[in-house]
Amino acid sequence: MTNVLVLGAAGHIATFARKDLLANSDVHIIDYLRRAHRLKVADSNRESVIEGDSTDQPTLVRALKNVDVVYANLAGSNIEQQARSIVSAMNQQQVKRLIWISTLGIYDEVPGEFGKWNHSMLDGGYLQTYGVAAKVIESSNLDYTIIRPAWLTNKDEVDYELTQKGEPFKGTEVSRKSIGVLVSRLIQDPSTHIKESLGVNKPNTDGDKPAWY
Ligand SMILES: NC(=O)c1ccc[n+]([C@@H]2O[C@H](COP(=O)([O-])OP(=O)(O)OC[C@H]3O[C@@H](n4cnc5c(N)ncnc54)[C@H](OP(=O)(O)O)[C@@H]3O)[C@@H](O)[C@H]2O)c1
Repeated sequence: MTNVLVLGAAGHIATFARKDLLANSDVHIIDYLRRAHRLKVADSNRESVIEGDSTDQPTLVRALKNVDVVYANLAGSNIEQQARSIVSAMNQQQVKRLIWISTLGIYDEVPGEFGKWNHSMLDGGYLQTYGVAAKVIESSNLDYTIIRPAWLTNKDEVDYELTQKGEPFKGTEVSRKSIGVLVSRLIQDPSTHIKESLGVNKPNTDGDKPAWY
């Protein structure tokens, strides 16, 4: 049975991913989060919980025992430090497969007016720190997949397309549910999209900014 460690397990996208995994696979999920009492375990036969911060090396290294896949759904201005901590802990436990949620724009890959608007909204720290964190992952020897979602919505839909690193980003938006399902599919078929950085958007949502702005 596959053991998946979900870092930031109470996060919005992680919640969709966990739900999809419980419905469509037999993987065992280890939820890793700060303030663990906030998380409602849906199926205690399939899920266990560890309280910890992703920068807490001893706790993280222990949590990685017998883990096959790590899914990091994290955020924060110390995202680079979190990335370094995870790479180091995974190396110590010889765990190779990592799925890492990042953001659109880290390679300056968003074209046209939307690209300019995206910079105006996300410059000033966020894009830069997420870019450095992605570099930490890419220069590791892990089997990573970096996911760069478009602007996130809470629409109840699964509708997405992918672009690769080096290609212009497409569209402006994507639902959190779509990203959660994509993550679930990657976990169920972990040999796909290795060492790739994927832009993810809802088809036919091109524009100068997301529709709700
Ligand atoms: N909003 C957008 O349009 C957009 C677009 C593209 C990408 N993104 C990025 O997508 C990612 C995931 O989105 P989401 O909606 O699922 O975010 P979310 O609900 O904020 O989830 C992020 C999780 O990270 C956890 N976390 C932060 N620092 C941690 C640490 N040191 N140790 C352990 N856990 C930590 C938070 O836990 P706590 O509750 O304990 O703080 C939170 O549960 C974020 O990085 C976001 O920036 C957002």
